[in-house]
Amino acid sequence: MKTYLVTGGAGFIGSNYIHYMFNKYKDTIRIINVDVLTYAGNPENLASLETNENYIFIKEDICNKDAMHNIFKQYDIDRVVHFAAESHVDRSIRNPQVFVNTNVMGTLNLLDAAKCAWETEDGYKTDKKYLQVSTDEVYGSLEEEDSYFYESTPIDPHSPYSASKASADMIVKAYMDTFHFPANITRCSNNYGPYQFPEKLIPLMINNALLGKKLPIYGDGKNVRDWLYVMDHAKAIDMVMEQGKLYEVYNVGGHNEKQNVDIVNIIIDTLASLLPDSDSRKAHVNKDLITYVEDRKGHDRRYAIAPDKIKSEIGWEPETMFAEGIRLTIEWYLNNNEWMEHVTSGDYQKYYQEMYK
Ligand code: NAD
Ligand code: TYD
Repeated sequence: MKTYLVTGGAGFIGSNYIHYMFNKYKDTIRIINVDVLTYAGNPENLASLETNENYIFIKEDICNKDAMHNIFKQYDIDRVVHFAAESHVDRSIRNPQVFVNTNVMGTLNLLDAAKCAWETEDGYKTDKKYLQVSTDEVYGSLEEEDSYFYESTPIDPHSPYSASKASADMIVKAYMDTFHFPANITRCSNNYGPYQFPEKLIPLMINNALLGKKLPIYGDGKNVRDWLYVMDHAKAIDMVMEQGKLYEVYNVGGHNEKQNVDIVNIIIDTLASLLPDSDSRKAHVNKDLITYVEDRKGHDRRYAIAPDKIKSEIGWEPETMFAEGIRLTIEWYLNNNEWMEHVTSGDYQKYYQEMYK
């Protein structure tokens, strides 16, 4: 039985990945989820695994070096999938420090603990691997229409978030280049799907529209992101872990570029079509809610991934068409009102008032 150490597994992508892995491998794997539970970490995302003997939750900060080393002493870890991070660009503009602590120093701690545990006299224990979950944002912004991010595109981050993720990638690269540490890096485009915290574009717009609140579009709304359904990302991570060549970087993307304003319009149309006539919210879900607000500082114009390498070397391709993925996502939010109520109480209200004042 393989033992996975997943960090940040109570967050959006991490929890979807853990569900994906137990659905696929059933009781042939064990997953240890290390998560300190920041505002973005929610154990409710994994409530259905409470009785699963192969799922272990450890509430811990990846910045705690001793704790990371102890976890590797206590368990014989075969795979590390490192999701834990501060992940929201707007928050990084307001408070960069925590991004550097968690995303850079936390990554270094984890690498160091894995290296110490896996090292042998002449290399590493066999069949061990670390996967750094990174982002296309490390490549910066594409200004020309037909250009794409390739693995060879120079790193050129702009926001404190993407700079911290790029720094973490460079530390992983240093471990691979200097110590031959067995690792891969994946760089994925924007994800959407269930369990995403409503500070990010798609769940924020769904939540606001249902509440009849304004839908704040930054700048001219023409910034482009390449959206990928989260379960397709989970599958890509698993495939890179098992089939990726050591030390390689793989871009993961949806072939699905959309302007923000188009995303918001699709959300309104899909919500309106899914809500039954008897639902009182249907009356206010319409385009009058759209409001253009001040642009994000340093707002990257366009992201677009060329996922050619992961397709040709590993055989991964995005499977979920956007029309289907967004319907599944909106249905999930409609069916999980309580989840939304829990995550938007308390601190979220404070953040929202401050951010959108
Ligand atoms: P998220 O913010 O939803 O979840 C992050 C998780 O990490 C939370 O559960 C949080 O509690 C945990 N965490 C934060 N700081 C921690 C610390 N110091 N110690 C332990 N746990 C800590 O993020 P997400 O959207 O699920 O993103 C996961 C990873 O994927 C991140 O590394 C992010 O950079 C990357 N990524 C995200 C996207 C996206 O569209 N969301 C796209 C590409 C890559
Ligand atoms: P976001 O979901 O924060 O992801 P990222 O900035 O990491 O790509 O934002 C996606 C896009 O949506 C980005 O161009 C900023 C824009 N946006 C808005 O226009 N309004 C909002 O309220 C938010 C949160 C984002």
